[in-house]
Amino acid sequence: MARVIAVANQKGGVGKTTTAVNLGASLAASEQHTLIIDSDPQGNATSALGFAKDPARRTLYQALILGEPIERVTIDAQIDRLDLIPSDKNLVGAAVELISMENREYRLREAIQPLRDKYEYILIDCPPSLDILTVNALAASDSIMVPVQCEFLALEGVSELLDTLARLRRAINPSLAIEGILLTMYDDRTTLSKQVAADLRSFFGAQVFESVIPRNVRLAEAPSHGMPVMFYDIHSKGAESYIQLAKEVIVNAQKRVGPGTERTDQGSGTTGTSAAAAAAGSSGAGSSSDGGSAGPGTE
Ligand SMILES: Nc1ncnc2c1ncn2[C@@H]1O[C@H](COP(=O)(O)OP(=O)(O)OP(=O)(O)O)[C@@H](O)[C@H]1O
Ligand SMILES: [Mg+2]
Repeated sequence: MARVIAVANQKGGVGKTTTAVNLGASLAASEQHTLIIDSDPQGNATSALGFAKDPARRTLYQALILGEPIERVTIDAQIDRLDLIPSDKNLVGAAVELISMENREYRLREAIQPLRDKYEYILIDCPPSLDILTVNALAASDSIMVPVQCEFLALEGVSELLDTLARLRRAINPSLAIEGILLTMYDDRTTLSKQVAADLRSFFGAQVFESVIPRNVRLAEAPSHGMPVMFYDIHSKGAESYIQLAKEVIVNAQKRVGPGTERTDQGSGTTGTSAAAAAAGSSGAGSSSDGGSAGPGTE
């Protein structure tokens, strides 16, 4: 049964697509059958995997709006164990068309139901907004992964997002867990990166992935060659970091197996909510206390 993970953050340019593509390829390389769903009309995940614009290609639009079987829009990403449901600008129309449709929040969830048995992981690359496409992704997912760029005000941004998420969760998908907060474009030469990372960790504790994605030029170059970074430069820090992240995701999944499943999921969800509430109530990002062993859930 696939674990469906939405890679989402309403802020643009934080590394959502880079994460969906490179985590997807790294999971596939770790023997996990993986599907990447490009749910952004920008189609960046589609092009980063080497699929140039092609008006004849079926995309998520056909499945979501026209009700075509999802298998017909799923393509082989030309990497072992990795498939793709592509997107293109037609999806902009989908966002508008969905508004007047019945069951509009759950179209994606229903569409991908037949695929859940075929994959170990399904990653959904979301657009930089909380529009109906993102709502569909969150309704269809078991968890959300939030890439966060290590920059000024990152803590406020994540706190707001988790706050919104808590409300969304109640309304559309009560079982949505937090897969994790992922620090991206981390630059260990700058004090700011270090400070932001420390703040996020003290506030959100174990919800922040141990793996950190460094700022790495290979990660920025790989999409223009139409390939995940591990095929472009396997020895780069960027490739290493996503392989490490894939391991962490797999280990976390193994920990959840068995009677611990619900406890872990709910635990992380609850922590996120209360941490967000705490953040909303506190004024300064740097003011969070040590956040030591007691964890953010106790704040
Ligand atoms: N770790 C990194 N190091 C260097 N460049 C990166 C890194 N991660 C992402 N980039 C580059 O930063 C830009 C934004 O990344 P990306 O497209 O993944 O963000 P996004 O959140 O998907 O953006 P959008 O909100 O527009 O969908 C891209 O040009 C990408 O190549
Ligand atoms: Mg993107």
